[in-house]
Amino acid sequence: MGSKIQAVSGMKDMLPEDVVQWQSIEGILKSILTNYAYSEIRSPMLEETKVFKRAIGQVTDIVEKEMYTFEDQGGDFIALRPEGTAQCVRAVLEHGLIHNKVQKLWYMGPMFRREKPQKGRLRQFHQLGVETFGIATPDADLELLYMNHKMWRALGVQDGIKLQINSLGTPEERLAYRNILVDYFSDNQDQLDEDSLRRLKTNPLRILDSKNKDMQSLIADAPSILDYLGEDSTAHFETIKHGLDLQNIAYTVNPRLVRGLDYYTHTVYEWVSDYLGAQSAVCAGGRYDGLVEKMGGRATPATGFALGLERLLIIMEEMALPQPTQKADVYIVHQYPEVLATAEKLREALPNLQIQCHLGSGGFKSQFKRADQSGASWAIVIGEDELQAGTFTIKPLREEAEQQTLKFRALVELLNQHSGSKGE
Ligand code: HAM
Repeated sequence: MGSKIQAVSGMKDMLPEDVVQWQSIEGILKSILTNYAYSEIRSPMLEETKVFKRAIGQVTDIVEKEMYTFEDQGGDFIALRPEGTAQCVRAVLEHGLIHNKVQKLWYMGPMFRREKPQKGRLRQFHQLGVETFGIATPDADLELLYMNHKMWRALGVQDGIKLQINSLGTPEERLAYRNILVDYFSDNQDQLDEDSLRRLKTNPLRILDSKNKDMQSLIADAPSILDYLGEDSTAHFETIKHGLDLQNIAYTVNPRLVRGLDYYTHTVYEWVSDYLGAQSAVCAGGRYDGLVEKMGGRATPATGFALGLERLLIIMEEMALPQPTQKADVYIVHQYPEVLATAEKLREALPNLQIQCHLGSGGFKSQFKRADQSGASWAIVIGEDELQAGTFTIKPLREEAEQQTLKFRALVELLNQHSGSKGE
């Protein structure tokens, strides 16, 4: 016998009850995106590997060790997308979508990173990403933060999620700060772990992100980037903070927040939650004014975020928020194959109800058991008498009420009332 076949580690099936929940969350998020007038863009799962190498940075975890890449049969180097920003930039450039115009776009779908699976960390996970192109002023960043906040409230998770913000300034300011940081950590090399010693040479800002407990006091005493920002960058950051205050959105300024992707400038932020354990960010993003040019386009300011849907679900579960479930409304109990055609008529007349018609064999008793399991509120019985008289016996399954025998029209009317009250 061969070995057991199962899903790839870190990649999950979404079972029917999960899908109900996902669809409900997706519906809420999509209605907010529409409310803010953002448009959806859909792109392939695969891109040329160089798209991500160029955008995310060669010496980042994602590019160095987490990307699923392969050489295809034609000798092209292809990657499963690890994130959506680089891809979105590629797409808007390819199709001329940002030529002298502002674009407010969103996408939702699976991303792939070969990380070590653990709570809230998968190898295939799902992001809702939003990207705004063509606006350099901080209002574009603020609108995204307001929208995030609205999403948390709409989903009922606002008390479980906190905002951390920082500014990385312009590339020049960041470079000057990088040199200061290299001096600081070089003076304290004996306190750095192996990984940070390596980062000191390749990507020193990432040392600030280290989770190593022994290095925390060294990191806490490191120079803050906020002290090295110029006037314009400081003003940009102040506008963001003021805008958050105006909307009563609480935040913490975290000068150690540097993000794991290299493309950021100015504002960066993470929405974090204690419910997530070590992988605490549920949503993260910021401005990336240099990326479009780096990808071959004209210099175009841009800002965006991505929300991890699995992490959002963990928070909702840990906060014990009520979860939607899928239940039939009506279960048709019968003994005759002709009834399938009657079920068609009922579905036509009641398109908003979930109408399950018993399939396969089985006596009344076992069919009623199935009806009960389906969660249906009503059973419609079509036995010999009903078939002859052209009537339906409707029996409430969840409340103490008399069963009634009705003609088709009266039955539809009764169920219509029920379906009307469903959405309330
Ligand atoms: P990121 O911080 O790499 O940013 O990912 C954004 C979110 O995706 C994270 O906060 C987390 O919720 C989720 N996520 C990331 N990796 C995993 C994983 N292995 N398992 C589960 N969830 C995960 C970006 O991807 C940027 N493209 C965000 C952005 C858009 N910046 C500007 N525009």
